[in-house]
Amino acid sequence: MRRKRDKPQKPRPNEALTRRDFLKGAGVAVSGGLLAGQAAPANAAPSGAEVVGPGSVPITLRVNGKPHELSLEPRVTLLDALRNNLDLTGAKRVCDRGVCGSCTVIMDGKPVYACNILAIEAQGHNITTIEGLAEEGKLSPMMSAFINNDAQQCGFCTPGFVVACTAYVQKHPNPSREDVEKGLGGNLCRCGTYMGVRAAVLEAAKTNGS
Ligand code: FES
Ligand code: FES
Repeated sequence: MRRKRDKPQKPRPNEALTRRDFLKGAGVAVSGGLLAGQAAPANAAPSGAEVVGPGSVPITLRVNGKPHELSLEPRVTLLDALRNNLDLTGAKRVCDRGVCGSCTVIMDGKPVYACNILAIEAQGHNITTIEGLAEEGKLSPMMSAFINNDAQQCGFCTPGFVVACTAYVQKHPNPSREDVEKGLGGNLCRCGTYMGVRAAVLEAAKTNGS
């Protein structure tokens, strides 16, 4: 008897969005190294888009209030640029595909996954990392609330959570516990510190601090 074939699964949104889609969105395209005379592939740079790469190009990133001049290949993600070129290792690489939230940074006031953004696309935006939240080495109210509520165990996901929670409270100054639960759905913790994290967000919101 023939077995029924499994129904093909639809790709999840994160998987469906390729890095090339990001480049198109940014109006920049990376050279695919076409040989002279070769026909352009169907996914070639849209007309009018500037073609850069595949070698290093000058890139300026504004991170924690300061501009940084870098020379990077256009394929380098914001996360790798922060960690490998700027020595800002607070944002962690875990899934490297926009699922876990460990690499969260704030871009123009919104929390984003740094592994899902190319450094070249992040130009012209204000980026804040966990390092930028501790001004002059002083813990931010959210960081203190994490400590007060025992909201970390191994701590690997913690920088991403603190950044996401900071951005969340800035936008939702008076959240309920249910709001917090829904609002932080983009960050995962394998140690299961969710109860402590929610309590920390409520404490930081109550004291009007992020
Ligand atoms: S490392 Fe970026 S979302 Fe997981
Ligand atoms: S505290 Fe260990 S993964 Fe979150």
